[in-house]
Amino acid sequence: MQNFVFHNPTKIIFGRDTIASIGPETKAWGTRCLLVYGGGSIKKNGIYDKVTASLQEAGVAIIEHGGVQSNPLLSHVREGIDRVRHNEVDVVVAVGGGSVLDSAKAICAGAAAAHDVWKFFSGKKSVKAALPLTTVLTLAASGSEMNSGMVITRDETREKFGFGSRHLYPKTSILDPETTYTVPKNYTAYGAVDAIAHVLEYYMTTEDPATPVQDRLMEGLILNAMDSCERCLADPRDYNARADLMWTATLALNGLTGAGLGRVGFPMHMIEHSLSALYNVAHGAGLSVVIPGWLRWHSAANPDRITHLGSRIFRFDAQHNEPTSSQTIRKLENWFARVKSPIRLSELNIPDEHIPAISDNAVNLARFWRLDQYTKDTIEEILSLCR
Ligand code: NZQ
Ligand code: ZN
Repeated sequence: MQNFVFHNPTKIIFGRDTIASIGPETKAWGTRCLLVYGGGSIKKNGIYDKVTASLQEAGVAIIEHGGVQSNPLLSHVREGIDRVRHNEVDVVVAVGGGSVLDSAKAICAGAAAAHDVWKFFSGKKSVKAALPLTTVLTLAASGSEMNSGMVITRDETREKFGFGSRHLYPKTSILDPETTYTVPKNYTAYGAVDAIAHVLEYYMTTEDPATPVQDRLMEGLILNAMDSCERCLADPRDYNARADLMWTATLALNGLTGAGLGRVGFPMHMIEHSLSALYNVAHGAGLSVVIPGWLRWHSAANPDRITHLGSRIFRFDAQHNEPTSSQTIRKLENWFARVKSPIRLSELNIPDEHIPAISDNAVNLARFWRLDQYTKDTIEEILSLCR
């Protein structure tokens, strides 16, 4: 196990009827909030009314910034920053999934900077301060509710870049599983795939051979993501299933799993971000295509880690008492297909001849994330295993 510092400052308020806490939790940080939300699901399912009532009761004025799209855009972030400045906003409230929470984080950082917010994403500037952020999560997937990261797409160049800063942890995140009852089946599945991907990125890229504590934690999160997702698909209003999936997705990317692993990378995300940036693919749907391809590429050099995972999370029939890496990959791929998350580029309507352009796009993020072994050719090789 490597040395580590684990410090996650986000306060989590979890459970039924917790949305009423957003008012007091926000008032502790400011009195004029920018309310960031997406395309309107919160207005259809009643979350908007509960959140605004709580904010108004707490005496927090509301300036709205709706319209965040999935795979959020820099142009919309910039509009939010202008709105903050023109309305003397002193706190940001995000109500939605990862796209909304990430946009809000970028607005918090950009509003406190004298330069354009994209300079943070291109690594030219680092965050020195940010507006405080509180959130109400409505989709179990990204883990943004309890981490310091965010991912934004620059409209004009289609670069979908992500970075993190200790200034950007939400002060408080409200996780009420009942808010996710209305998440459609496809996004329920994509969210579980995203949580599994967050764990796999750590599990597969750590170079430390002796991490049994983290391994069991990560294996458990993968098993929980699969199990709770299936229960949510069977009954979208199964509170315990929604609660299990929500808390699993949060734990999958709040820093706990990575503690002690040493240097890790996010190569599957590096490639997937290009699918989302270029084709507006749902993040989890892109991951269920990239994960098997990346694992097949990775197994040529490092089959044992994949086999180890397979022996821990899948049951293999008697004669295969020791699963192979290819059997493990196929079982994971079969699970993605079972929850109707795509497993081939063709299912995303992305033709083979687009692979060079996708790797041209992805290699920029590989450089930024210092994934130096991922050259354009290597990314093309991996994508050719996703066809
Ligand atoms: O537009 P709205 O109304 O919000 O509708 C959304 C959107 O259409 C809908 N939805 C959300 N909650 C709902 C709901 N529909 C009905 N009922 C509800 N309760 O679901 C759709 C997808 O929402 P989105 O926020 O895009 O999904 P997700 O939470 O998967 O977030 C994806 C974004 O997170 C980023 C991804 O890159 C992507 O941009 N990520 C952020 C990370 C982080 N901050 O650490 C890490 C992740 O790896 C990921 O990259
Ligand atoms: Zn992700």
